[in-house]
Amino acid sequence: MQSDPALLASFLLLLPLVLPGQPQLVRNVLNSMDENGTFQCVVHLPNNSIFLQQLDQLQSTLQELISKYEQELSRAKEYVHVIEDQDSQTLELSHMLESRNLGVTVSQYDNPSFNLLRLELEGAQELAAQLKANGGVSGATDLLHQLQNQVTNASLTLKLLVDSARQSFHALREEVDILEGQLSECEREKEQEQSSRHPGLPLAPGSCAHGGLQKVSRPLVVKLNWRGLSSKAGAWGRDSAPSPASSLYWVAPLRADGRYFDYYRLHKSYGDLVLLKHYEQWKMGYGDGSGNTVYKNFMYFNYYGTRDMAKVDLSSNTLVLRRPLPGATYNNRFSYAFAPWTDIDFTGDEKGLWVLYATEESKGNLVVSLLNDSTLEVEQTWYTSQYKPALSGAFMVCGVLYALRSLSTRQEEIFYAYDTTTGQEHHLSILLDKMLETLHGINYCPWDHRLYVYNDGFLINYDLTFLTLKQKVPSSPMKRSSGALAPSKPIKLNKP
Ligand SMILES: *[C@@H]1O[C@H](CO)[C@@H](O)[C@H](O)[C@H]1NC(C)=O
Ligand SMILES: *[C@@H]1O[C@H](CO)[C@@H](O)[C@H](O)[C@H]1NC(C)=O
Ligand SMILES: *[C@@H]1O[C@H](CO)[C@@H](O)[C@H](O)[C@H]1NC(C)=O
Ligand SMILES: *[C@@H]1O[C@H](CO)[C@@H](O)[C@H](O)[C@H]1NC(C)=O
Repeated sequence: MQSDPALLASFLLLLPLVLPGQPQLVRNVLNSMDENGTFQCVVHLPNNSIFLQQLDQLQSTLQELISKYEQELSRAKEYVHVIEDQDSQTLELSHMLESRNLGVTVSQYDNPSFNLLRLELEGAQELAAQLKANGGVSGATDLLHQLQNQVTNASLTLKLLVDSARQSFHALREEVDILEGQLSECEREKEQEQSSRHPGLPLAPGSCAHGGLQKVSRPLVVKLNWRGLSSKAGAWGRDSAPSPASSLYWVAPLRADGRYFDYYRLHKSYGDLVLLKHYEQWKMGYGDGSGNTVYKNFMYFNYYGTRDMAKVDLSSNTLVLRRPLPGATYNNRFSYAFAPWTDIDFTGDEKGLWVLYATEESKGNLVVSLLNDSTLEVEQTWYTSQYKPALSGAFMVCGVLYALRSLSTRQEEIFYAYDTTTGQEHHLSILLDKMLETLHGINYCPWDHRLYVYNDGFLINYDLTFLTLKQKVPSSPMKRSSGALAPSKPIKLNKP
């Protein structure tokens, strides 16, 4: 803001010149009583041009002030818009977190340019009031009255603007503080969980020396995807090979239509991902849905509008292979519940690269195939008893398929497991909190034993905890599953 105190000063200097009682300006004064005894004072202005010039000057100075005010007004409006935009983003973010009162202290906020403008307007207001009070100057009263109204108007508007800007800023500040509080709380919980989880030796990266999935941590919200809230569907994660060559993180938000996979980004480290820097952004242009995964530095996905599997070399973004998946349905025939266009879902684990899909022969039930990751040939196939459109997602760990279903807008349950080693299935109940309603693209990374999940645009992850080998519960047909592993509620059998 171009604040000009000199303007106000020159304005104030005019004041004595136009006050009545200045002998050189007043030609004559007639005092008289009228018939009712009222004292009348009539001031005759001199017909000299000095006074008129000064009045002119006063008017133009006020005009200047007003146009300056209007400039500031439009700037202030922009500023308020920016704040409101930030506000609404923060609010959306905070809505997905449970709101808690953390005793936020609101820091004072004052914009110096608002203050200067306010001072100027107050000065002008005072001046106008004085002029009017000392007025009775014939001919100038209307002008003064009008100017005074304008100045009062300007002051009021300015006050409103400052207040609303301040409120927005405070609201924003408050949201940020709450989020920061929640983040540190989350980190604390995570530390506690980690220390309580590994009383003995932690599970080595990529190791399958455990007795199966036991527990899932609370979600850690990493950030909003780089395309923003409009990209509700997508996937992200790390390389799903048991010992990845790099600490690469990939993020693949779909277009706002929730179907078309066109761009992805690669970050060399977690820090780069969080700070959104040092990334490579590639255009793909031919993927369908959020079933992608990255395995041994290749990305696998469903080729748009076909039953083809596609394989892209991430070091050069070149499509190296495309091959149909025999019998697989596509074009949103048997997608997961709430996640359209997920007919063909790739997932990697300690045992290899898998593809999860459904066929007409399977009547829509989930089919698991182990792929040869060089040729994309199907090596072996298993048939589960679960209707794929009733599941909200699935992933593999150490050759065991785990399937999820939604319990509510805030909770998922890993309720079903299928062990490809034994060909047996069982029910279990491991709860999983979510921030927002829909999970897309669930990917497992054997290196850090985490799930990477795309949650309505937000990148979140979960730590997995495993039973020890001693605790291992043998896989058994579902009918015989009992005890701790029995589901907490009756299983809905979706027989098509
Ligand atoms: C004097 O008072 C009368 C009645 O109160 C009123 O009608 C009249 O207009 C007044 N005259 C002046 C000059 O004010
Ligand atoms: C005031 O002075 C100007 C010239 O300076 C003259 O034209 C005008 O008639 C005068 N008006 C009155 C009311 O004396
Ligand atoms: C003051 O503002 C009101 C509405 O905000 C407007 O209608 C009015 O004309 C303004 N008055 C002046 C003197 O600018
Ligand atoms: C994948 O297929 C190629 C070519 O047929 C073969 O050489 C390779 O051994 C296969 N990989 C596995 C893991 O079976």
